[in-house]
Amino acid sequence: MKALILAGGSGSRLRPITFSMAKQLLPVANKPVIEYGIEQIARAGIREFGIIIGDTGDAVRAALGDGSRWGIELTYIPQAAPLGLAHAVRTAQPFLQDDPFVMFLGDNLLKSSIEGLVQEFEAHQPAATILLAEVPNPSQFGVAEMAGERVVRLEEKPASPRSNLALVGVYLFSPQIHSVIETLQPSARGEYEITDAIQGLIDAEGEVRSVRVEGWWKDTGTVEAILEANRLILEDLSSGLAGEVEQSAVEGRVQIGRGTVVRNSTIRGPVVIAENCHIEESFIGPFTSIDAGTRVIRSEIENSIVLSECSILDVPARISSSLLGRGVRVVRSEGRPQVSRLVLGDSSSVELP
Ligand code: DAU
Repeated sequence: MKALILAGGSGSRLRPITFSMAKQLLPVANKPVIEYGIEQIARAGIREFGIIIGDTGDAVRAALGDGSRWGIELTYIPQAAPLGLAHAVRTAQPFLQDDPFVMFLGDNLLKSSIEGLVQEFEAHQPAATILLAEVPNPSQFGVAEMAGERVVRLEEKPASPRSNLALVGVYLFSPQIHSVIETLQPSARGEYEITDAIQGLIDAEGEVRSVRVEGWWKDTGTVEAILEANRLILEDLSSGLAGEVEQSAVEGRVQIGRGTVVRNSTIRGPVVIAENCHIEESFIGPFTSIDAGTRVIRSEIENSIVLSECSILDVPARISSSLLGRGVRVVRSEGRPQVSRLVLGDSSSVELP
């Protein structure tokens, strides 16, 4: 069995961060989201991985390398344009050949392991196995209509969903999927939909098994969803203090990386702070991840993701539910008149108290 991980696409709902960064590389608890999926698949014993890449391919290659750190072999597969998930599979066909494969969307996070799914797939050899999860907003996903345990119909982002069962971004396919994709037409939004391809398997009376996900599942494609994913991952954080903590209160489960200094501050876990950060006279609240080289001085932050090399200095109001990209500066403006001075990239969003 092979693996196909999708790390192309545009990431339009995470702008402006995704103007300069692949959404699959956004860190959750300071680790790129795509690495969680790679680790899960590697734990299921799969060694040959294809990674679909698009415009951000160089950064994805630089971040993941040749896969040797997970004991796997990565093959990068450029997709000329993000024309849909089924188009990505078609692009990968020369790599996949006639092998069955797990397809994992690089921005999806799954709590449970996939080992059992892979074993079950290999034992029964259906045309496909899909994962389903109940969601409150099914029209934002592929949606499955069931008759008992049988999948009867799949629709991509329907305006009037027939159930609240969303298709999770983890699929297991037999090579039969390629012949359906050959005949696929683009959907109303102009993409070759994997949802339509699986419907094609059902129409051809292929066996499509469905499994309800155990534990949580997150598509991290929006700011709210990635913050939620960060909370869920941090729920399981273990403590580890490698930096220097001076005259500070460290409460609950907290990780502090090497070279980081925390002084006269309160850190209320779960919180993860990477290497070489400087935290002084500040409050770092629950469910916050701070990446390497960031400074937080006389400021408060909670329920947020802060990427590397940021400066948060003397900010008067607590920063909450926020996502800060690399090298962002948030500082108090000095002098009179008291004004907000903003240099924001396209599609930035600021809410002032
Ligand atoms: O997250 C689950 C959902 O993922 C499913 O419920 C939907 O049925 C499925 O179509 C998909 O919907 P999204 O709108 O969330 O897909 P998105 O465009 O975000 O792409 C998913 C991943 O695949 C993402 O990491 C980017 C990558 N991608 C996407 C496209 C369209 C590619 O690598 N190539 C592409 O052409």
